[in-house]
Parts: sequence; C-alpha cells; structure tokens
Amino acid sequence: MDRKEFLASIGMGAVSVAVFNCIGCSKSPTSGPLIPAPTNVDFTLDLTSSANTSLNTNGNYIYANGIIVARTTAGEYIAVSQTCRHENTNVIYRANNHQFYCQRHGATYSETGVSAGIETNLPLTKYNTQLTGTNLRIFS
Ligand code: FES
Repeated sequence: MDRKEFLASIGMGAVSVAVFNCIGCSKSPTSGPLIPAPTNVDFTLDLTSSANTSLNTNGNYIYANGIIVARTTAGEYIAVSQTCRHENTNVIYRANNHQFYCQRHGATYSETGVSAGIETNLPLTKYNTQLTGTNLRIFS
C-alpha cells in the first residue's frame, strides 16, 4: 500500500494533509532565534548615490544595515528593521497598502512597524529619518 492508498483508506486526502502541515504554523519563531533589530543606529544615505537613487521615487525601498528604508506614496521617508519577527525573512514595502509585508507566510506590519497579528505579534523596530538636502539620516 502506497502513501496515497493509505491516506485514502483512513479517509484522508490531499486536503487533509495540507491542513495537518499548517498545524505546525505558529505565532512564535520555529526556525532558530530571531535576528535582533539593529540598535544604536545612526547612518546617512546619499540619495545621489546609485545604490540609493530608487528612494527618490515614491513607493520604492532599499535595505541598508539591517533596515528597510522606504518612501511612502506621500513622499515621506520611513525606516524599520528589515527581518520579519516570525522567522527572519526580509520584509518588503507595499506602498499602496501602506504596509511592510513578509512574502514567506504573509505577516504584515504598519508603516511604523506594528504587527497585524499574522504569524507574529512582535513588531518591527521603527527608526527616525531626517532629510537634509540629498542626505537621508536614519537613526535610533
Ligand atoms: S517568516 Fe513567517 S511571516 Fe515572515
């Protein structure tokens, strides 16, 4: 009897297997310790540098020093720690949804890092931003 026949014999098909696989999902980390959010942060991004010029357009974002720095649809700069508080995957910024999003299991965070409670209740760490000319300072 193969696996498929066995599952059929006990009344379980592919859908049941999928449900059982999700039972392992939880709101706490399951793949090792969480990467700590950067502390004592203070660095400056030159927005004329090719590595950072995408931040001159609303809705774009970059990663720098463990932090995701984004420009909102209103043109404001925001910054939070870049690793999801569930299992350390880098979040992305979804400007039109005004949120940070983890593509791995679907966690979402507000633009200030507050978790929506999907997969984790832990927040991303928010950092301050200050634009002076073409220099964007990110700091704790
Ligand atoms: S790693 Fe699971 S939701 Fe981000």
